[in-house]
Amino acid sequence: MGDNAKLDLGGKPSEYPVVSGTIGPDVIDIRKLYAATGAFTFDPGFTSTAACESAITYIDGDEGVLLHRGYPIDQLAEQSSFMEVSYLLLNGELPSKAELDKFSNTITRHTMVHEQLAQFFRGFRRDAHPMAIMCGVVGALSAFYHDSTDINDPQQRLIASHRLIAKIPTIAAMAYQYSVGRPFVFPKNDLSYTGNFLRMTFANPAEEYEVDPIVEDAMDKIFILHADHEQNASTSTVRLAGSSGANPFACIAAGIACLWGPAHGGANEAALNMLREIGTPDRIPEFIARAKNKDDPFRLMGFGHRVYKNFDPRAKVLSKAATDVLNKLGKNDPVLDTARELEQIALKDPYFVDKKLYPNVDFYSGVILSAIGFPTNMFTVLFALARTVGWVAQWNEMISDPQQKIGRPRQLYTGATKRDYVPVDKR
Ligand code: CMC
Repeated sequence: MGDNAKLDLGGKPSEYPVVSGTIGPDVIDIRKLYAATGAFTFDPGFTSTAACESAITYIDGDEGVLLHRGYPIDQLAEQSSFMEVSYLLLNGELPSKAELDKFSNTITRHTMVHEQLAQFFRGFRRDAHPMAIMCGVVGALSAFYHDSTDINDPQQRLIASHRLIAKIPTIAAMAYQYSVGRPFVFPKNDLSYTGNFLRMTFANPAEEYEVDPIVEDAMDKIFILHADHEQNASTSTVRLAGSSGANPFACIAAGIACLWGPAHGGANEAALNMLREIGTPDRIPEFIARAKNKDDPFRLMGFGHRVYKNFDPRAKVLSKAATDVLNKLGKNDPVLDTARELEQIALKDPYFVDKKLYPNVDFYSGVILSAIGFPTNMFTVLFALARTVGWVAQWNEMISDPQQKIGRPRQLYTGATKRDYVPVDKR
């Protein structure tokens, strides 16, 4: 852009460079603001703040566009594979056949977890939420892989990245098997990343498990659609945790904890629970009225987004995939009819139209995951599994950035001013 942004604060003028990216809004570089004016900016929730420079993912929320390294998400979801998208996110370019084979092979060969880690599970109750298990077990990885926690060594960073992407499906599958009281199933190296995960999750050791290509394909697509999403809450958490120099396993555990919240990754579980609670289309108006009522904390789960003020492009892909997958699997879930009807009613309602609230990625994913056989409490685990590559790519980008500093936001202080301590018998 070139022009500086001019600020006049208390009659003291100052100027700030305006910086342009390759696409998207310009940013005003205010790094010198405090030194020049003694004032901070105030932006709770980061609604107008770019916290970093990144070349991984681009979102145009008004147009409903999502690009990974420049490639539109719908093209990746329809034509690519999760392993290929993972390579793309990490390395910036689509792999050649040889590069993809090598990468897939490396990931496959890191899927096993330390046998002692399996013992760790026994400390959890069988009815623990699997996201609670994920937070604990992924955090514990740093206690098992000391040889890849030096973040200043690019080789160790690479190995830690591969380990995280490879072991997350194993840990997620173990969390599920543990909850249903079945033994853990080891990975099998001749299967794809996604096929392997399905087998480790659903196989019963007394029988052969055949990966259903329809399910494998649907699952892989869901993984692609969740792989990265720019500087969302959990990714920003990973970056902030990593900015102190914390090891990558600890940082990803922090991201998982953040993702769990119902306003973020926890919304897929909440959305399906909501659709089931609605039950039949005739109850939709009651729930729409609740969502619009300011005195009721209820929100339409799977609706609305901080960035998308148009259709979430991921929801578009999943809406179509939900019908395809259910048809192919020969399943008929009335929840899908409720979801479609709810979407139609909400999209015509002035409340949702005026606030630009559209279905997000979580609205239809649950219908597919449920058809595949996952219980709702596993939905956010699947999101965490897929998002791990995005977190790892963003963490690596941050560590390699020469401008990187520890993240340290400031505040608008509204507490008591200085006062003297009063002994307890005088209060
Ligand atoms: N149902 C009813 N009203 C809503 C909804 C909803 N789902 N979402 C936003 N609103 C209203 C909200 O009450 C507010 O109204 P007003 O301006 O009158 O106070 C207005 O729309 C703006 O909402 P906001 O909460 O200020 O917007 P935000 O950008 O802070 O929140 C959100 C975004 C995703 C947290 C929110 O839309 C929401 O809670 N949605 C439901 C949960 C959900 O589906 N989350 C998944 C997000 S996509 C996947 C992911 O990122 O993990």
